[in-house]
Amino acid sequence: MGEALSTSDGLLIRSALLSDVTPLLGLINAYASQGIMLPRTELELAENIRDFTIAAAGGALVGCGALHFYGTRTAEVRSLAVHPDWKQHGVGKRLMGAIEAEAVAHGIQSLFAFTYVPTFFLKLDFVEVDRRLLPSKVWKDCLRCPKLQCCDEIAMQKLLIPAEAATPPAAEGASEEASNGLIVLPTFAGAGHPL
Ligand SMILES: CC(C)(COP(=O)(O)OP(=O)(O)OC[C@H]1O[C@@H](n2cnc3c(N)ncnc32)[C@H](O)[C@@H]1OP(=O)(O)O)[C@@H](O)C(=O)NCCC(=O)NCCS
Repeated sequence: MGEALSTSDGLLIRSALLSDVTPLLGLINAYASQGIMLPRTELELAENIRDFTIAAAGGALVGCGALHFYGTRTAEVRSLAVHPDWKQHGVGKRLMGAIEAEAVAHGIQSLFAFTYVPTFFLKLDFVEVDRRLLPSKVWKDCLRCPKLQCCDEIAMQKLLIPAEAATPPAAEGASEEASNGLIVLPTFAGAGHPL
């Protein structure tokens, strides 16, 4: 994201820094231990820290989410988490607003997520989609997910531009990509992964 956004309730939404890695590990891996999210290592978070937007209150991390690109038109929202004490206070929605604005600024046409909380995403105008229509590169995370063979997450997608305005498939990866920003996958039945 661009500039940090500060709201009247003292919540600060900003790009993550390397100094956020330790609290991010705590927030994400607490949910991972409940099987709700994919665990992350310090190295992974440091490598991907520029994907992350965080919410902070009083200097403490209260939420996070990452925008991860799959090519130039499609991106995934992942590692979205709000501290249990801060749930249902609009933090997730504000993080998603910042992440979506970042995606739009990059020209992303299609945003997707895997989730156990589809209602949250429905409220943000995502729709449920067939997981096999999502980018094949996603499966690299699935391969190390404990739920590889029994995934029950729901794939959600939001087009950020009108479907009729979506760019035709580029030469690169054209065999995989459909004109609506979705990517047709080789079938990999039942697989998926926590964010
Ligand atoms: C999912 C999560 C990020 C939502 O964050 P949040 O800050 O509590 O959500 P918000 O307060 O911004 O809620 C936005 C809207 O979604 C709704 N909502 C939030 N969590 C919901 C849930 N679990 N089920 C149904 N609706 C939910 C809210 O009621 C609100 O609706 P409204 O706009 O009509 O008032 C948070 O519950 C969380 O961290 N969960 C555990 C980790 C997780 O599951 N992450 C993966 C997400 S893909």
